[in-house]
Amino acid sequence: MSAEPSVITIDGPAASGKSSIARLVAERLGRIYVNTGNMYRAMTWAVLEAGVDPKDTDAVRAAAAGIVIESSVVDGKTKVAISGRTPTDAELNSDPVNRAVSLIARVDEVRDRLVADQRALASIGPLVMEGRDIGSVVFPDSPHKIYVDASEEVRASRRGAQGLSDQIAERDRIDKQRKNSPLVIPAGAIVIDNSHITLDQAVDQVIAGLQLS
Ligand code: DC
Repeated sequence: MSAEPSVITIDGPAASGKSSIARLVAERLGRIYVNTGNMYRAMTWAVLEAGVDPKDTDAVRAAAAGIVIESSVVDGKTKVAISGRTPTDAELNSDPVNRAVSLIARVDEVRDRLVADQRALASIGPLVMEGRDIGSVVFPDSPHKIYVDASEEVRASRRGAQGLSDQIAERDRIDKQRKNSPLVIPAGAIVIDNSHITLDQAVDQVIAGLQLS
């Protein structure tokens, strides 16, 4: 058996549907689902709780250094404890966090810590891990990479249907243009256009494309 960690990586822009796809792919294949966006959201929540301006990179760096963050998977959900307190889903997906998360996620020190935590999670078992840089940076040697895309109109209307106000175009701009680990289609990834297919069809396409042995 290979000693390499077994990780199916799923990347893509905001509201592309990658979380729903990743969760179902993990369920069908008996793998553990990890949502790395929740880690960046939890860090953002903690930085905002500390009263720090998310645009002030030096202040973010200083605040982040004092934050104890611990990620785990409990009952199929990615839990992130901040100094022992686990922010709720509502807190992680609040308007202030949506507005600030891409600013926090571009800070090198924040990424270094969370990428190390993401790599460490590979020891808990075979994973489906979703995010922005999982196939390009976190597990670049994975033979199983997926990139989920969807048109901007479809993505905006999905967020609206969830009752969430989320500046997805602005988040995508920052996520794609940052220097450290920008959102890209990873080398070797299978690209799925999730604009006009059902969730089941997307999951079928992913599983067919992976050619798992
Ligand atoms: O997947 P999401 O929309 O919940 O992610 C929230 C933000 O976190 C996203 O806009 C950028 C950042 N992120 C990242 O930089 N790298 C990841 N692997 C996952 C998320």
